[in-house]
Amino acid sequence: MSLLPWPVAWQQALYGRAGFYRGIGPAGHFATATHPPTGVVLARALLTLAEREGAQAIVDVGAGRGELLTALRSLDAGMPLTGLDVVDRPSDVDDSITWLRSPGGAELPDELAGLNDTLVIAHEWLDVVPCEIAEVDDSGTLRQVLVDPASGQERLGDPLVGPELSWALAHWPAGTPGERVEVGLARDLAWSRLVDRLSNGCALAVDYGHVAADRPGGGTLTGYADGGQVAPVPDGSCDLTAHVAMDSLSHDELHTQRDALRSLGLRGATPPLAQASTDPSAYLRGLAEASHATTLMDPSGYGGFLWALRRVPRAGQHTADSGA
Ligand SMILES: C[S@@+](CC[C@H](N)C(=O)[O-])C[C@H]1O[C@@H](n2cnc3c(N)ncnc32)[C@H](O)[C@@H]1O
Repeated sequence: MSLLPWPVAWQQALYGRAGFYRGIGPAGHFATATHPPTGVVLARALLTLAEREGAQAIVDVGAGRGELLTALRSLDAGMPLTGLDVVDRPSDVDDSITWLRSPGGAELPDELAGLNDTLVIAHEWLDVVPCEIAEVDDSGTLRQVLVDPASGQERLGDPLVGPELSWALAHWPAGTPGERVEVGLARDLAWSRLVDRLSNGCALAVDYGHVAADRPGGGTLTGYADGGQVAPVPDGSCDLTAHVAMDSLSHDELHTQRDALRSLGLRGATPPLAQASTDPSAYLRGLAEASHATTLMDPSGYGGFLWALRRVPRAGQHTADSGA
């Protein structure tokens, strides 16, 4: 059994040469809110957000195979759009969309720099940025967890030290034997490096997440493949994901998706019944839209995702609530 720290095994399993995300892409294994049929409704809300924030361009980090970008393009023919993921440009992505190939995980391509008046969206990116996994041993010491990439078997390694330990003490203090900590430092740093690519504009992270008041003591690391949840074995056969400590990301606003979408005007209201006879096809479209909006706002599903928004003002300009 060859044991590796989780971040090393995880990075290799997802982004190595035969890594999971180099294959058929996320939509081949699981659905996200950016995919049809909810993707267009989400895209419309994101265009409203772009307008509210004064953004003139949108970048999608961890763009999958361009699903969200395609939905955005169907609603706005003129908005400059850029996507990045760990594969070459998918053949069905519209020519008007710029595509950058990225190294994967916390690393971003150098070409992504100096973004002006841009909304950067990271939808379910940070949960697949590998992070340290730690566990409290029988004596109450927090130790690094090591994993065998072939089998997923784990063993406790050295005590956690340095910045990782400092992060855990500050954001996810744990002392009960068996308790696990998914150390968010790597995500915080990846997010900050993404925000640094903005000269001005804003960055939005949307993810499965938690805040200090509700950290999941058993951890959330899991695998997904072929539409189902599987054991997290870092052998390249499955996605590996752990929820994000969203409140430790540098942010100006933090909301549930449900609240964020409501603030952008989404209601999930059904069209008036009278429309069924005056304009049946508009009525049916309205019903479908209402149902997708309801799916996006369901508190026990996508509506429970967290949105962290970070603004980067122009030099010399201040935002009302920056530094939250
Ligand atoms: C869970 S999938 C989400 C895909 C899409 N955003 C969605 O919500 O359907 C995560 C995606 O992030 C991509 N990814 C991971 N690290 C990346 C990086 N550093 N740069 C660009 N894409 C990355 C993966 O390859 C994968 O396609």
